[in-house]
This record gives sequence, C-alpha cells and structure tokens, in this order.
Amino acid sequence: MAESLRHPFLQGLSKHRGAPPTAVVIFGASGDLTARKLIPAVYNLSYDNLLPADFYLVGYGRKPIPDDEFRKLAGDAIKEFSRRELNEGVWSRVAANTTYVAGGYDDPEAFKRLAEHIDQIEKRIGRDLQVLFYISTPPSVFAPILQNLGRSGLAGKHLGQAHHAKVVIEKPFGKDLKTAQELNTTIRSVFSEHQVYRIDHYLGKETVQDLLVQRFANSIFEPLWNRNFIDSVQITVAEEVGVGTRGGYYEQSGALRDMIQNHTMQLLALTAMEPPVSLDAEAMRDEKVKVLKAIQPLRVGEGGDVARAQYSAGMIGGKNVQGYLQEEGINPQSATETYAAIRLSINNWRWQGVPFYLRSGKRMARRVSEIAIQFKRPPGTLFAEGDRFHLAANTLAFQIQPDEGLNLVLNGKVPGLETRTQPVKMNFRYSTTFGSNTPEAYERLVLDAMIGDGTLFIRGDEAETSWALYTPVLEAWAAAGRQGMDAYPAGSWGPASADQLLAASKHEWRHP
Ligand SMILES: NC(=O)c1ccc[n+]([C@@H]2O[C@H](COP(=O)([O-])OP(=O)(O)OC[C@H]3O[C@@H](n4cnc5c(N)ncnc54)[C@H](OP(=O)(O)O)[C@@H]3O)[C@@H](O)[C@H]2O)c1
Repeated sequence: MAESLRHPFLQGLSKHRGAPPTAVVIFGASGDLTARKLIPAVYNLSYDNLLPADFYLVGYGRKPIPDDEFRKLAGDAIKEFSRRELNEGVWSRVAANTTYVAGGYDDPEAFKRLAEHIDQIEKRIGRDLQVLFYISTPPSVFAPILQNLGRSGLAGKHLGQAHHAKVVIEKPFGKDLKTAQELNTTIRSVFSEHQVYRIDHYLGKETVQDLLVQRFANSIFEPLWNRNFIDSVQITVAEEVGVGTRGGYYEQSGALRDMIQNHTMQLLALTAMEPPVSLDAEAMRDEKVKVLKAIQPLRVGEGGDVARAQYSAGMIGGKNVQGYLQEEGINPQSATETYAAIRLSINNWRWQGVPFYLRSGKRMARRVSEIAIQFKRPPGTLFAEGDRFHLAANTLAFQIQPDEGLNLVLNGKVPGLETRTQPVKMNFRYSTTFGSNTPEAYERLVLDAMIGDGTLFIRGDEAETSWALYTPVLEAWAAAGRQGMDAYPAGSWGPASADQLLAASKHEWRHP
C-alpha cells in the first residue's frame, strides 16, 4: 500500500478511492508557488501511486516556454523543493505527459488553443479527461481567467457527467467583503459551487486534520468542549520572518488580511464548530459557517476587541533586524499592520462567555502556529497554601507548525515526601510517532480536488462570512490611518495593546 495511505490520520479522514483520468492545467506555471509547492505535490502523488494512470500536466502562462524547457524547470523544482529526492523513474512517467501552452490570461484566442490542446490529448488517448484548472496567478487576473474558462467552454467541459471540469483558486480570496462577493459572482457565472475549490492550505496540514480526529474520534474531549470547562482559547500564527522582498505586496495586505481572516479563522472554525453529521464537504462546511455566523461583531477603538501594530527594530536569532517602516518598498508613513490581535465572542450555547483570542504577526519571537485550549482552573483547596495558587490550568495545545504535535499540561506531584505539585507536559510529536516524511498540505489538497472532495476547501459563503466580520475593522483602520497603531520590537511576542486586550479578562498570551 502507498506510504501516505498507511498514515492513520489519512486513513481516518480519507475517502481516497482514486482520481479519474485527469489533466491538471496550472495558470501561472512559471511562478513561485508552482515551483515550490504544486510541481513537488504532483511528483509526490505520483511517487505514492495516487495519480490516475491517465494523468496530464499542462502549464499555462504568458511567457512562451517550450515543452522540454518546462519539463526541465519542473524537474529542477522537484530537486530543490520536494520532500523526497527526485527519482527519475517516477518523474519520467509524469514528465512524458507534461506540456506547456503559452497565452495571455485575458486572451480568448489563447483559451481556444488551450481547449484544442486538451481535445487533442483526449483524442490521442481515446477517452475524456476531467480537467482541473489551478489558478496560481496574482489575484488581479483571477477574474479574466475565470471568464475565459467560461467563454471557451472549458468550464462546462463534460458538465453533468461524473467527472467534469473543476477549478482551484489560490488565496487571497478578495481583500474585503465587496471584492470577495464580486469574485464569487464571477465564479458562479461560470462554475457551479461543487466545481470550485478555494484553497486555504492550512486545511491541508496534518495537524489541522488531526484536530478533527482528536475532537471527534476520542470520547474524552467532547464532554469538556464547552463553556462549562473551557476558560479561553488562543490561536497563534506567528512568523519570525519580516516582509523581506515582498514589501510591495504586503503593504496592500497586512496581518489581518494575510493571516487572521483566512488561516486563523479556519483554525477557529474547526475548533469551535459542532460535530458534523459526516465528514462530507457540505456537512462540514455547514457547521463551520454556522459557528462563524455566531461570532459577535468586533468593536474597534478604545476598550475594543482588536489591536494592531508594526514591528520596530529588534533582534531575531541573535541578529539585529530593522523595523517595518525601514524595510525595502515600505512607505515610511505606512499604516499597514504587521501584527493583529483579536478577541472574539461566539454567541451560541456551547461557547457563550468563552473568549477566543487570535493573533498573528511577523518578526515575532518564534515561528509557531498553535491552537491552545485553556481549561478552567481547578479549585486546589486540597494542596498546601503556596501550591493552591500555582496549580496550572490544564491546557491542550495543538502545534500546527513546526514540530507538529499535541501536548497536554497537567498538574503532577513532585517526587518527595511532601505533596508539592508542578505542571507537567504530555507530548505527542508526529515526527517521533510516525516519522518525519508526512505529506505536504498541497499533496492532500491537489489530490482531494482531483477526486472531488471539497471538505478541506472554503465554500463561497464561508469566505464571505469571514470577510463580513473583518471588513468593518479594516474600514475603521483605514479611516484612522496611523492613529492607534502600536509597535513591538522584532523578536518579541507582540505589543502592549495586545496584552491589554487579554488583561481586561485576566488572561495572558502564551509564549509557546
Ligand atoms: N508563493 C507562495 O508561497 C504562495 C503561498 C500561498 C498562496 N500563494 C498564492 O498563489 C498565487 C501564485 O503565487 P506566486 O507566488 O506563484 O505568484 P507569482 O510567482 O508572482 O506569479 C505566478 C505567475 O503569474 C504570472 N504573473 C505574475 N504577475 C502577473 C501579473 N501582474 N499579471 C498577470 N500575470 C502575472 C507569471 O507568469 P507569466 O508571466 O508566465 O504569465 C508568474 O510566473 C497567488 O495568488 C498567491 O497569493 C502563493
């Protein structure tokens, strides 16, 4: 059996019955994401024998690239970025069916050529292919690509048959509610929702799927998973890196758009949703939307629910680094936040009164993504005076990256004749238990899209519900300019205003 299917979590969540004969067309095939993630994902799926026997890879982009050169670029990308070394036998199977079509994203004639290219493959092999269009371009050309897929008939290819055309759309999905709605309108004018796969690659990560397994495959958690036992929840997506050379892009984005609105909200939805009736895409996404809709509107300003900041000069890994406003391509008067923290209230039966704290920032003390469930403090009346006050609250932390795993903090007895307590940690590490060569998020997601399983993708209403929550915050921040923008030294855990956000309810941020 293929190595990745032996992985117990994949077995548990998997409905992998094998993908039908498929052509994957990548728009933006000369780009960074294609080289770093998509080509290595296809290669590793081939390595694991998870690609259909009839599999074709078609690159598309404005730059003319001969087929041979595209195959060479793809081979080089595998050598540089794949989790496994390039095995010529495995790669040659895919390379033999890899071609490139050059054309503009807004050029109807080029899309006709693409349609003919796919028709020719189908004629040659004597069977129909489902076509998976992967849009891996900057968002400015998402709409023209979608419209041309409609006009050329490619979107409707084999519609109504068991395997029809599908489209995968990269992030960012809009930059506020209005643009997300517009993008959804364009998508829906061309594709049906069941043909659409909006990516949030966090959902492809092993630990994120493990969260579902831990919650719903163990009976010990569900009775505790509510306001009666849980005190608060902290979700952190922290990066050590600064904006680097991507300053121009980041200035248009910021931490709220880049991380909070999508990745942390997905983590929140999976943590807080009700058990779905099944792991089917619609059942799962219905529950995620329900919990997102129960979140109360955010208050901005003095005593509100949000904090924002930019990193100032500081130290990362023993090296001095400059502040955000001094980075290349950044307006010295920039009002773009590199850190955002949010306090959310979910007004439903399960969570009322339990604060959910979300934060994300660049240039923070450590690169870490985690979900920490903090349980209520034990009464502690049984123990010595000093210990009573130091009994730790039990905490269950899902570490999404790096060192994927799960840990539980309990109070234990310190060996000795006195009864003294100390918090102790039980650790489960993926790499120790299962080995370190777990599939990358993009492998899982490309395979699921080929198979037609949308469980780990964002539905249109889900994206809009999340934007509806954050758009008023973005508008208030845009109107305020730099007023209210806090700062934090690079290499720290964030600004004082974010600490105050938690201090109001006697909580503190973790330093994971
Ligand atoms: N890179 C990542 O790690 C990453 C991670 C998560 C999400 N994403 C998302 O994935 C998508 C692709 O990212 P990427 O980093 O691969 O982008 P990229 O390298 O900047 O662009 C991909 C390709 O799109 C074409 N392109 C670039 N700028 C364009 C423009 N202004 N107008 C029309 N076409 C343009 C280029 O191909 P041609 O010139 O040949 O047409 C380019 O090779 C983006 O939506 C990004 O937000 C990327």
